[in-house]
Amino acid sequence: MCGIVGFVGKTNCLPIVYNGLETLEYRGYDSAGIAYIYNNKINIIKEKGKLINLKDKLDFNISSKIAIGHTRWATHGNANKTNAHPHQVGKFTVVHNGIIENYIDLKNKLLKKGYQFKSETDTEVISALLDYNYKLEKDILKSINKTKNELVGSFALGILCSDDIKNIYALRYSSPLILASFTNGNFLASDIPAIINYTNKYILLDDLEIAKLNEDKITIYNKDLKEKKIKYHIFNGEKTSVQKNGYEHFMLKEINEEDKVFKETINSYFDGTLKSLNENFGFLKKYKKFDIVACGSAYHTGVIAKSLIENYANIIVHTEVASEYRYKKCFYDKDTLVILVSQSGETADTLAALRKAKNDKIKTMAIVNVLDSSIAREADYVIYTKAGPEIAVATTKAYVSQLTIFSLITLYLAYINNNLDKIEINNIIKDIKLLPKLIKKEIKNYQTYYNIADKIYHNKQIFFIGRGLDYANSLEGALKLKEISYINSVAYQAGELKHGTISLIENKTPVIAIATDELIIDKTISNIKEIKARNAYVIYVSNTKPKDIFYDDFIQIEKVHPILQSILTIIPLQLLAYKVAKNNKCDIDKPRNLAKSVTVE
Ligand code: F6R
Repeated sequence: MCGIVGFVGKTNCLPIVYNGLETLEYRGYDSAGIAYIYNNKINIIKEKGKLINLKDKLDFNISSKIAIGHTRWATHGNANKTNAHPHQVGKFTVVHNGIIENYIDLKNKLLKKGYQFKSETDTEVISALLDYNYKLEKDILKSINKTKNELVGSFALGILCSDDIKNIYALRYSSPLILASFTNGNFLASDIPAIINYTNKYILLDDLEIAKLNEDKITIYNKDLKEKKIKYHIFNGEKTSVQKNGYEHFMLKEINEEDKVFKETINSYFDGTLKSLNENFGFLKKYKKFDIVACGSAYHTGVIAKSLIENYANIIVHTEVASEYRYKKCFYDKDTLVILVSQSGETADTLAALRKAKNDKIKTMAIVNVLDSSIAREADYVIYTKAGPEIAVATTKAYVSQLTIFSLITLYLAYINNNLDKIEINNIIKDIKLLPKLIKKEIKNYQTYYNIADKIYHNKQIFFIGRGLDYANSLEGALKLKEISYINSVAYQAGELKHGTISLIENKTPVIAIATDELIIDKTISNIKEIKARNAYVIYVSNTKPKDIFYDDFIQIEKVHPILQSILTIIPLQLLAYKVAKNNKCDIDKPRNLAKSVTVE
């Protein structure tokens, strides 16, 4: 949430900072701003709305060599120009990603000291606190250090001080921040896409470390303000992974990468033998229970995993959304492994759930996409998904990669618990090999889903129903549709409808009914017939062609073992959501009010 970029170097920095912000706009797009040093003074330009609104206001030809920029996802105060970052108080100008929980107390203290505030943000309070502490300490580093100890919450900060126009200062706690160097200067940024056009080498700032960047070098100070040796990391992905490559939207590009993502995730942990699964997942043997904790779509993969692991491996799984889990009584013990699932590895609630478990001395495992992200760094075990950078705010390929990991884990646990016979194991392995082709085939069939989208896109509400695994698939189908098209789409267990919700079914209300589990397919079909009898417009999604016609449209998906089936079930639903949003002229990659990487609670 919120993207920050800073650059100091030998070259004109405004295009660099602006382009960096463009690559981070997925983190927030409520307003944007840049502070730059020109004629020995700090200038600030900011605008409401998307970054493009800032473009005309910037003179890209002026020779400024040092700047910090911000693209905002509003937390404190409306998305207006006054609340846009950077925020300047006295000698300090700040861009911030995170939330300061004690900002009211700090603000009251600073008001008493004579400070005045223009915005409603917590960030302006940081600027004032830095200025106040600078007056006391008379030293920038010491002032930042003192401020850091007074802030409660999460923060990644880029800081300029008018008494030192050659350096940018940076600081982080619980919000991501990387640093990087290239021949012409030094960067700070919230994420790798902002630097990848210049270098693939980056530095991870640890919690509570302070960095100082000038045109020649980066210096990092530890908690005691002692200089620390710098360690570089290498980003191995391709530059093109953060570009659209001819696709109209990142979301469409990312759906089209799902076969490759599945293959790469499988190849990282499974060479076709159960021995390789034992090497990668052998540590799971120690645990008798799993708590799967995540948010949004990542949570949905946990709902699917619960069903698979309980059914096939006979192990109790508790799945819960992180924002609830972090504050509730947990019945975990030394036999429990808490599994955190996160694409970004920075989601605040998921990170807090991890810290809670660690605090209670419970072992944790992260299933994470972003290398060295906070969740990856803090968990006891890490399994990386191999989705590559995901830019569209709505997750698609990362979701598929998380399901892929859970398929492998289920297979492994079912195998060691002797719950699958040899024939079934061989069938699953055969299906794993076939899956990339089947994923591609389903994506190629997009016109079928688009035709259906054309029929339903004008509706105000759309229902998804399913049982068991297909209810979990419905949850994700409904989320994908609502978040990018703003249509109220809700998922229900097919058997539950008649206990209340069926009263919402009117003539031609679209209902997307999913039935892939052959053990309960007939039960789901009976439920579909009940809603068809009430004139719903039924879109039936199944891996088996039914004997009679009780639907208006049919999406036939490929049939594979249930351990893998959800990976194929979600593809038509993602493409259907995409086309519905496109028909409604929605901003598909940057849906209203949302941002990727939710680093606030
Ligand atoms: C929906 C979506 C979100 C994320 C959720 C968790 O399309 O992307 O629901 O799944 O915010 O994010 P991560 O996986 O980064 O923890």
